[in-house]
Amino acid sequence: MLAETAQPLSTGGADQRPRHVAIIMDGNGRWATERGWPRLVGHRRGAERVKQIVRACPGMGVNWLTVYAFSTENWKRSTEEVLGLMKIFRRYIEREAEGLSAQGVRLRFIGGRERLDPKLQALMASIEARTAGNSLLNLTVAINYGGRDELARAAARLAQKVARGEITDPGEADFEACLDTAGHPDPDLVVRTSGETRTSNFLPWQAAYAEYEFTPTLWPDFTPQHLAAILDRFGLRERRFGGV
Ligand code: IPE
Ligand code: IPE
Ligand code: MG
Repeated sequence: MLAETAQPLSTGGADQRPRHVAIIMDGNGRWATERGWPRLVGHRRGAERVKQIVRACPGMGVNWLTVYAFSTENWKRSTEEVLGLMKIFRRYIEREAEGLSAQGVRLRFIGGRERLDPKLQALMASIEARTAGNSLLNLTVAINYGGRDELARAAARLAQKVARGEITDPGEADFEACLDTAGHPDPDLVVRTSGETRTSNFLPWQAAYAEYEFTPTLWPDFTPQHLAAILDRFGLRERRFGGV
């Protein structure tokens, strides 16, 4: 959603809560390596953290949570790591389906799906359908997501609409409707764990006016208490959206 329509001007204040938090969950590999363990152990621990953060969000006033799980660039990793991650995603969906439904979570995915295993694609579609009626927490998982890839696919969709004569003078709202996140509010806050201070191709359109927090904590060590402290700091920020 466009910033001008999604957000009123906010002057901060301790009670200002981000409605939509997006997280670049980084540092799983280093967390495992530091302990002399295979990287996949860190990814498994990271998946446990996702469950904990998901449970904590509604109580913190967060109603949209988007997490970066696998980028379009992560295919560069070893086959063992990539296949291991895909297995973790499959298990997460299989094992969490029941619990997420009961918790009132609506689960959706962004990113290109065609490169994923058809069985995983089918699971993704089925949990999206199963949780479509929920609204307590909108959880979006970015798998095979890359901002540039999403923008390129959106541009192609928009071009098709124009070619079909459905749109004559495309503007920002028309473009936004072609993104994977069509209809989602923009993130208010983007958190990246592990100390890296870059965005790594995450939500370039949607996060145009997001506040950023970079924390040295590695994702497998990131607890709801860390998130609570970040949300408190967010309350003190002044968001101007280009105004004064
Ligand atoms: C983030 O942790 C998870 C994914 C990118 C899949 P990393 O695997 O990038 O962990 P580091 O950055 O190597 O420590
Ligand atoms: C970003 O982390 C992607 C995810 C967290 C899924 P990376 O570890 O892939 O990013 P770089 O390579 O450090 O930029
Ligand atoms: Mg990393």
